Amino acid sequence: MSLVQGAAKLQAGSLVAPQITVLDTGGQYTHLIARRVRELGVYADVQASDTPSGKLRSRKGIIISGGPASVRESGSPDIDPEVLCAGIPVLGICYGHQLMARRLGGCVQKGTRGEYGVARLTITCEDDALWNGVAPSQIWMSHFDTVESVPPGFQITASSETSGIAAMSDPARKLFGLQFHPEVAHTEAGMRILDNFVFGICGAVQDWDLSQRVPFVEEQIRRIAGERNIFFFVSGGVDSTVAYTLCLRALGPQRVYGIYVDTGLMRKGETEFVHGAFEQLGATNFMIDHAEAEFLSALHGAFDPEEKRCIIGEQFVKVQERVLATEHFLDGHWILGQGTIYPDTIESGGTTHADLIKTHHNRVAGIQALIDSGRIIEPITSFYKDEVREIGRELGVPAPLLARHPFPGPGLAIRCLCSAASERVGKDPDGFLLPVRSVGVQGDARSYRAVLLLPSRPTPDQIHVTAPALTNRRSDINRVVALCGAKVDPGLLQVFEASITKQRLDVLREADAIVREFCGATGFESQVWQFPVVLLPVGAGSGRESLVLRPIQSVDGMTADVVLMPEAWLDELTSKLLALSSIAAVFYDLTHKPPGTIEWE
Ligand code: XMP
Repeated sequence: MSLVQGAAKLQAGSLVAPQITVLDTGGQYTHLIARRVRELGVYADVQASDTPSGKLRSRKGIIISGGPASVRESGSPDIDPEVLCAGIPVLGICYGHQLMARRLGGCVQKGTRGEYGVARLTITCEDDALWNGVAPSQIWMSHFDTVESVPPGFQITASSETSGIAAMSDPARKLFGLQFHPEVAHTEAGMRILDNFVFGICGAVQDWDLSQRVPFVEEQIRRIAGERNIFFFVSGGVDSTVAYTLCLRALGPQRVYGIYVDTGLMRKGETEFVHGAFEQLGATNFMIDHAEAEFLSALHGAFDPEEKRCIIGEQFVKVQERVLATEHFLDGHWILGQGTIYPDTIESGGTTHADLIKTHHNRVAGIQALIDSGRIIEPITSFYKDEVREIGRELGVPAPLLARHPFPGPGLAIRCLCSAASERVGKDPDGFLLPVRSVGVQGDARSYRAVLLLPSRPTPDQIHVTAPALTNRRSDINRVVALCGAKVDPGLLQVFEASITKQRLDVLREADAIVREFCGATGFESQVWQFPVVLLPVGAGSGRESLVLRPIQSVDGMTADVVLMPEAWLDELTSKLLALSSIAAVFYDLTHKPPGTIEWE
């Protein structure tokens, strides 16, 4: 059971029936929609898209989510057609909007070009109930298909630069469709639009109180753990620390054990930091396991991102099994705690129809087996990053720990790109084509494509105009980088065969430490949500590596905007990095998420 779903029971003393149901067609933002509705104080749940209409009779409203499929393909997620004629208000978002249009006799076509990122909402029907208090403003799109003509009875209520039909409605039947995503932070009036739907159109009433979540989660931890103790592998990141602290509070320090695994894939100084932080939290059962050699030998010769992620995940399980065995924890009195948060499950294909973007290290086969046998507890799996920080604050977790940028479980391994072959960097009409591939997410689906290098310094125009236009137009790339500085002409660069080695990790660790120190000293650190530094096996002569700077701003990691570092700072930082003998070039990632993911792998 999801902890948040259960929270509805706690606060009212009896089961609160969801007033709004989100039908899940596999979108990255399905649960975000439910969460936004809960932020309005209304309990919402998520159900499979094809849930029979009979099961939804008591709902005040239904929202059909976005999703990675095309409604034009056979076998794509569908709904019970009765849902659209049951008299209950329905809001279709993105794929849901297209599905509604197609089901009711409108026409959906493959667009001439995709539309990913921000756009401008132009309201064409002022008195539509969804637009109450909504002005023309920024909206956020992520789609390829478009509704070309609305079904009989519908009117077009808004447009955008690329979509003639950004919104449609049939007020008589209380059916509404939005091509854009009101649930993401980038849609300025998104909450107002959802408010109009939930209260104005559906007539829902407030029944949901977020302040109850901490006592509820603690109660659930005690219930799930029963007589068993909890064993945590902590990383020092916000998520595992907050999950651990919740367990510590629920069960007391004697029943919660923490182990920090030094995988050799951590940042400089990390082990010492974590040790100090956990002492401060009051952890009495805490130890460090040195597993660098195991991880590095398992990763030897792996080039593919998914293969690397799986190796690391499986290696975690092996280390866990070894530790559990040596500590005599396998006697059934212990269960494993994990700090998995909601985006970790969704981007790993956690809902029925979601496309796999990246396998999360908390969801590999060995862990799945423990989940299936009921030996895992994940106290914060229903929450998003910003909620986890709020919970941490409520629990009194020290501010420097909560302020830390997110850092991925697989560590520097997914920031240390590998290549199975050596290859020259190719001249391209738009710049240079770097033959290294990185992971992206476009229209809710995973992509794995090459990188385009613009041989000039990063500018706001490149970030906001050039890079989006290039990634929208070209199907061979999902990322664009600018050149901050290089020791050779970009045309002379080449990709070298490389896998993960301690030597390469040390280079990345050093570069990452330089960037962190610089950002801490200048204050840039607090201006960004996360700042991955990525190592590429691209260089010339003896300088066989390049670095990519990827500072981004985000609310919850589901979408991200590139942040441009002030020019003077970037110059200073670039020269510090180029002073490292193995570094040949420094690049700046110009790609928002989507179409790039935050991490490169
Ligand atoms: P992406 O790269 O998918 O990242 O845009 C979204 C957020 O998730 C973090 N991330 C991970 N965190 N294990 C984690 O604990 C992982 O395997 C993992 N992959 C990505 C990433 O750093 C960003 O904050």
